[in-house]
Amino acid sequence: MSEGAAKKEEKPRKFQAIRGTRDLLPPETALWNRVEQAVHEVFATFGFGEIRLPILDPTELFARSIGVDTDVVSKEMFTFWDPFDQRLPPKYQIEEARARGINIQNEGELATIGLALSFQQLTLRPEATASVCRAYIERNMQQLPQPVKLYTIGPMFRRERPQKGRYRQFYQIDAEVLGGSDAPGIDAELIEMVMTFLERLGLEGVQLHINSIGDKNCRPKYVELLREELRKVKDKLGPDSQRRVETNPLRVLDSKVEGEQEIIEKLPRISQHLCDACRENYDEVKRQLALRGIVYSQNFRLVRGLDYYVRTTFEITAKGLGSQNAVCGGGRYDGLIELLGGPPTRATGFAIGEDRLILSLQEQAKSKEVASGEWRVASEKPRVEVYVAWMGEKAYATAIRAAKNLRAAGFSVELPPVEQKFGKALGQADKLGARYALILGDNEVASGEWTLKTLATGEQATFAEADLLKFLGKNRSGE
Ligand code: HAM
Repeated sequence: MSEGAAKKEEKPRKFQAIRGTRDLLPPETALWNRVEQAVHEVFATFGFGEIRLPILDPTELFARSIGVDTDVVSKEMFTFWDPFDQRLPPKYQIEEARARGINIQNEGELATIGLALSFQQLTLRPEATASVCRAYIERNMQQLPQPVKLYTIGPMFRRERPQKGRYRQFYQIDAEVLGGSDAPGIDAELIEMVMTFLERLGLEGVQLHINSIGDKNCRPKYVELLREELRKVKDKLGPDSQRRVETNPLRVLDSKVEGEQEIIEKLPRISQHLCDACRENYDEVKRQLALRGIVYSQNFRLVRGLDYYVRTTFEITAKGLGSQNAVCGGGRYDGLIELLGGPPTRATGFAIGEDRLILSLQEQAKSKEVASGEWRVASEKPRVEVYVAWMGEKAYATAIRAAKNLRAAGFSVELPPVEQKFGKALGQADKLGARYALILGDNEVASGEWTLKTLATGEQATFAEADLLKFLGKNRSGE
């Protein structure tokens, strides 16, 4: 092996973020924060409170909630065995066993149930609804005034094939209304909340699609009818849809495969097979949406990919997203809490894909920028408002104090940690996009008159310390 090749081998491995995950960096993160701030503000006006959930929950919780035949559960979950450590002192082993739901009385029993203990399966949550329901039951929230309105923001994990708008770690803004009645006004108000939020962000080209997928009275009959019809055309369908004819025929409706579209258009539609109660309920949801001035289109193919839904489901699409254009999905899931061991409970909710929402806002901003040249994607505030250019040991002490006071007043300040010539300091301030440079040298410190340079115009003015803060306060960026 040549010396060069040996050297090459010694180079430490460079790591990359794992497939489907990504780092979010400034200034983009400022936009994420702005979006999340709007969530807190808008959702609070609809009476929602924030819940923060664990990222891990038992695999069984997701399998039972979302359904074992769904894509999410059958192939996309990040699941692992959580080993039980038998090297722990017996006292801890007993605690751990009890936490895993195994009622153990004494050390002697540890050996006999050792094997059972080693089988705890955990999953990185693929969505939030199941965990919110788990928390509702576990924390006895049915005893609170109903309905309980909760929202949460955070990362979810699905092992999907990554592409634009589709990631393996993605973020959801999730909202749930649990308990109380199933009055259609609840579904309509929930949709009103998402639309208000998207409007607050100025998202354009938003389209709301709604459907009713019936309930356990009418849906099974429709699914059987659909299956029969699909069997007749099975050989014309692709492999995924062929499989779904047997496992989950509803999902065939949501197929994007080109050659299947004509067939799907001719299939029986659930709207013609709803029972009276579901039809009345759906009509009332639509009336309630109209009362709120919310425009929607009905889409019989909107069946959603998770098993827990009943009656009204909805999706919202936005521009600039290509094929992954759903920014929000949701619907009613009245039976889920009972299925998870809780009392019969009505519930409905939605989740916004935050990555897609941000992408759509950015695409929109890009086209506006081209049109008007002035729309800013990130924070309106420059990252650095005041760059403190100092020279000399005395000036440094003053610069530290000035930086402290300016930061306390809410300005973002860059204070170079080592002395720089003023020319270099001003160049650096320019590079950082600073709005002002505060120049502090021996003369300024001695006279108590500080020089402030506005970098965009080159204008300079001198101020006493107190007046400087007043001036900056009056001329705050973004105001
Ligand atoms: P979902 O339709 O599976 O519903 O996801 C909701 C939204 O999350 C989607 O519309 C999309 O914007 C985003 N999303 C899903 N997967 C990805 C991905 N791999 N990459 C980027 N974004 C993605 C649910 O999760 C339900 N829990 C919603 C709900 C709440 N229903 C009732 N309550």
